[in-house]
Formats: sequence, C-alpha cells, structure tokens
Amino acid sequence: MFCLVALPSISFFISNFGGKKHQLNKTLNPKLRRIWTTRDWERKISVFSVFFTRLKDHHLLTNHSKSLCVGARVGQEVEALHRVGVLDAVGIDLVPYPPLVLKGDFHNQPFHNDTFDFEFSNVFDHALYPERFAGEIERTLIPGGVCVLHVVVKGMADKYSANDLYSVAAVVELFRCSDLVGVREVDGFGADTEVVLRKRKGGCGNG
Ligand SMILES: C[S@@+](CC[C@H](N)C(=O)[O-])C[C@H]1O[C@@H](n2cnc3c(N)ncnc32)[C@H](O)[C@@H]1O
Repeated sequence: MFCLVALPSISFFISNFGGKKHQLNKTLNPKLRRIWTTRDWERKISVFSVFFTRLKDHHLLTNHSKSLCVGARVGQEVEALHRVGVLDAVGIDLVPYPPLVLKGDFHNQPFHNDTFDFEFSNVFDHALYPERFAGEIERTLIPGGVCVLHVVVKGMADKYSANDLYSVAAVVELFRCSDLVGVREVDGFGADTEVVLRKRKGGCGNG
C-alpha cells in the first residue's frame, strides 16, 4: 500500500512495508549482527573512510567537527570517522551498539538544538516521516553545520524502505533552513547519490 506525498516538487512514496517493527526485527537479528560486526566490519569502515577523507579534503569536515551518524546500526561509519581523525563522533539508532551507537529515534533526536558541526546519514529511505527526519537534523546542527546524506535516487528502495525518493530536489526541499552545497554520484552500499547541505547561519527563510 503506497501513498504519494504531494508537496510542491516533492516526489517520494511513503510505504507501509518499511514499518518500525519490521526494521527493528532486522536490526536486532543476532545472525546479521554477527556478520555486520565481523565479516562486514572492516570492509564498510574502509569505504566510509574514503567518503569522510574526501569531505575533509573539501573542508566540509575537520578533526574538530562534533559529529553524528544518523541510523548508524553497529556504527561502522562512526568508527570510520574516528579512524580519519574525527574523534568526537557518535551514532544513533533504534538499537544501541555502545560505545559507538546510542539509542535514539531520528524522528526525535535525543540532543539539544545546535549540538553538532556535522551529521551523516545513509538511511533517509527508512524515514517514516521524512520532514521530521530533515527537521531534526537541522535542529541539532549548529548554524553553518554540514549535513551529508547518501540517498537512493536512481535505484529502487528495498523492502525495509519507508519511502522511495525520485529526485534530489525532493530531499533538498525538506531542508528548509539549509543551502545545497553539492550533489554527486557515489557507490555507497545501495546509495547512489551524495547530497551535501549547510544549515544557514541566518536561520530559516534566508535562502
Ligand atoms: C540500512 S541500515 C543502515 C545502517 C548503517 N548506516 C550502515 O550503513 O551500516 C538502516 C538503519 O536505520 C535504523 N533506523 C530505522 N529507523 C530508525 C529510526 N526511526 N531512528 C533511528 N534509526 C533508525 C535501523 O535500525 C538500521 O540500523
């Protein structure tokens, strides 16, 4: 069962197959968790490290960036940030994996306003409420803070996805208090597009 979200130039489907319970079952699966923390561990960290090193080269991330990874599962992206020198980095997920990943719902992040310099997420497609996903990132980023999303635009959403994105513009429009810094193709664990946004220093409506 799908419903088309009809906002101006927003084009993504919200589906009910990627519900929170369905998602939780996968994240809690002990066999999968063993694979993610053993066989997949180093492979994913090395790929994330390449992405983060490039962002450092482009001055979008520094060793001093207080950083959050949204929907980080067992935290390979957090570990990658640590390894490239960004030591003040943590993740949130419905299921914690301490010390790398704290328990938290990305629709209601457990952090104060203006906390992070940098936020990364490759789980936009898991957002049941995409506008809240974006709003929470903007709330917890400092003015001038950078958000990097890896999203699926060209490919198909999988059975755990809660929405299916048809254009980069659709996700950019959700970030009402941010400016688009850049978009490029990536090959990131199913995600095909990197979107970089910066929260406006002047707040919302100054775009
Ligand atoms: C495809 S996995 C990606 C995990 C990780 N980013 C990676 O690349 O290995 C999606 C993750 O999003 C998490 N997730 C789904 N809904 C969430 C929510 N509302 N709040 C926080 N995390 C959520 C799931 O538990 C799952 O770990």
